[in-house]
Amino acid sequence: MSTEFLEVTEVEHYTDTLFRIRTVKPDDYTFTAGEFAMIGMGDDDLMRAYSITSSPANNFLEFYSIKVQDGPLTSRLQHIKVGDEIEVGTRTTGTLVLRNLQPGQRLWMLGTGTGIAPFISLLRDPDTYKEYDSVNVMWSVRAIPELDAYKQFIEDNTDNFIPIVTRDDSWDGERRRITEFAIEIFNPEHDRIMLCGSMDFNRDMSELLTNAGFVEGTRKNQGTFVVEKAFVS
Ligand code: A2P
Repeated sequence: MSTEFLEVTEVEHYTDTLFRIRTVKPDDYTFTAGEFAMIGMGDDDLMRAYSITSSPANNFLEFYSIKVQDGPLTSRLQHIKVGDEIEVGTRTTGTLVLRNLQPGQRLWMLGTGTGIAPFISLLRDPDTYKEYDSVNVMWSVRAIPELDAYKQFIEDNTDNFIPIVTRDDSWDGERRRITEFAIEIFNPEHDRIMLCGSMDFNRDMSELLTNAGFVEGTRKNQGTFVVEKAFVS
């Protein structure tokens, strides 16, 4: 795998389990909004897929990560400091890209947990707004602080943002799982859906969409929904 070591320019911790890293972006580093790259700390066998949250036009790369205390990579990655280096794969890929969807009117991005990451890149990319009349997000997390990193940004850049908090009694917004209410809102005639979350969420929501007449898009055949299978939220 072709990789580069990139200097970390910013680290922001949001909760005990969530943080964000920015690195320099080499001039020749290119990708499409919604794609992921492999990240590591210098050990070849310890590279993990991370969606890029920055836009292709930004002069930095940004990644949003969980911290797992005994996780092989994130237990070390969470201690990274400005000035350190991380290893980043130069070949990006992914299915959550605009070109894998047929033309439509409303774009809906549905994410759980850190599955919001590829959508942040798409929301930072002007092309997303050129192709759709409205751009909409549903983001489901367990507890309110898990929305901190990007809640305001999503609110400011979408036509509809439905934040969902499923396990926090102090939340007075939507508490139902996306799978419990979203399908009634969608119509394959004009809605285009992107999914990124836990394996269970991706599977359950894909099944609901397929039963409702949506067709999964791939690099070879555009569809009316796409799902990222490369990594677990
Ligand atoms: P819930 O709290 O009801 O499990 P996780 O931290 O487990 O990845 O979950 C992140 C968010 O995704 C939570 O709000 C969780 O809801 C929701 N979620 C997890 N699995 C599913 C699923 N299969 N369908 C819909 N929502 C899900």
